[in-house]
Amino acid sequence: MATRKLFLLPGDGIGPEAMAEVRKFIGFMNAEQGADFHSDEGLVGGSAYDAYGAAISDADMDKAMAADAVLFGAVGGPKWDAVPYDMRPEAGLLRLRKEMELFANLRPAICYPALAASSSLKPEVVEGLDILIVRELTGGVYFGQPKEIIDLGNGQKRGIDTQVYDTYEIERISAVAFELARTRRGEVCSMEKRNVMKSGVLWNEVVTATHKARFPDVKLSHMLADAGGMQLVRWPKQFDVIVTDNLFGDMLSDVAAMLTGSLGMLPSASLGAPDPMTGKRKALYEPVHGSAPDIAGQGIANPIAMIASFAMCLRYSFAMIEDAERLDRAIATVLDAGLRTSDIWSEGCDRITTADMGDAILKAYSAG
Ligand code: IPM
Ligand code: MG
Repeated sequence: MATRKLFLLPGDGIGPEAMAEVRKFIGFMNAEQGADFHSDEGLVGGSAYDAYGAAISDADMDKAMAADAVLFGAVGGPKWDAVPYDMRPEAGLLRLRKEMELFANLRPAICYPALAASSSLKPEVVEGLDILIVRELTGGVYFGQPKEIIDLGNGQKRGIDTQVYDTYEIERISAVAFELARTRRGEVCSMEKRNVMKSGVLWNEVVTATHKARFPDVKLSHMLADAGGMQLVRWPKQFDVIVTDNLFGDMLSDVAAMLTGSLGMLPSASLGAPDPMTGKRKALYEPVHGSAPDIAGQGIANPIAMIASFAMCLRYSFAMIEDAERLDRAIATVLDAGLRTSDIWSEGCDRITTADMGDAILKAYSAG
């Protein structure tokens, strides 16, 4: 296997603390497993704005494009509330998604047995939960034009965002969902709002047609996205794979994350199309949680979502399936042993720091 090129963008808030724990695994796998990871590092979000006056520099953008995988921490914080809209921290993440064409965002929500009690839902509702949200990531209202605030000249302004989807965008994201469903329970539920949105009508049609033409072996159902949100908190285990657009996916994946006990648990992978020459996909891995500026710098953040995002990187970018599974098992082992960061702590468990959590998972990984 050739060198594996990683580009690390720790970002703001708790991003750098969480990324420090992933560096331990990269170091260990290089030293003990001959993994040959080469990692470079850049700035994104507010930290990039402070250094360069942009949410990501062109030079770092080039490095991201050239890497086999980008590991991303988190961006944003009150410090940058007043920066111009185009330079706000989130713009760096959106630029990476758009220019790398990372249209497929995989957000698994898995409830570790040890954490069933820390969900705000009853344990029997979330125990053993294993769902995968496949969120479209480069289209829809996030990027549709026009996107502006115009002055109507009568003392009123008008804010405009545009929800727009073309056939090919819906086709390729639903194909990803169907393919992944084949490796799981074989069920896809598509969510849109076809009762009020034209883009929802088209979404529904294209998903249905893609299913019929290419994936008739998978079980397909449709749900209006609001009802989907309700069903997610009512009985989430009814779902296997959920496929939905950019905005609904943003909201529904936060809901799904909370089912698992903490937003600090949920990893994600954002993938592009396979390159026709090399078969490789551009990819970015990030925890679903944000930068949590309120707890940044205290060493108490939960690094599990970031570490689990690295496990997804091993799986999807490097086909290191055994190592990915071993890492996922190590996380479960540490939770079973009662070790917890503050966000998932409950009576009778040991409250530990970010660094201790990383060390404990690394120890379990090296043993297992
Ligand atoms: C997410 C985040 C981002 C999004 C923000 C930071 C732009 O909420 O990845 O879910 O809205 O996509
Ligand atoms: Mg979000």
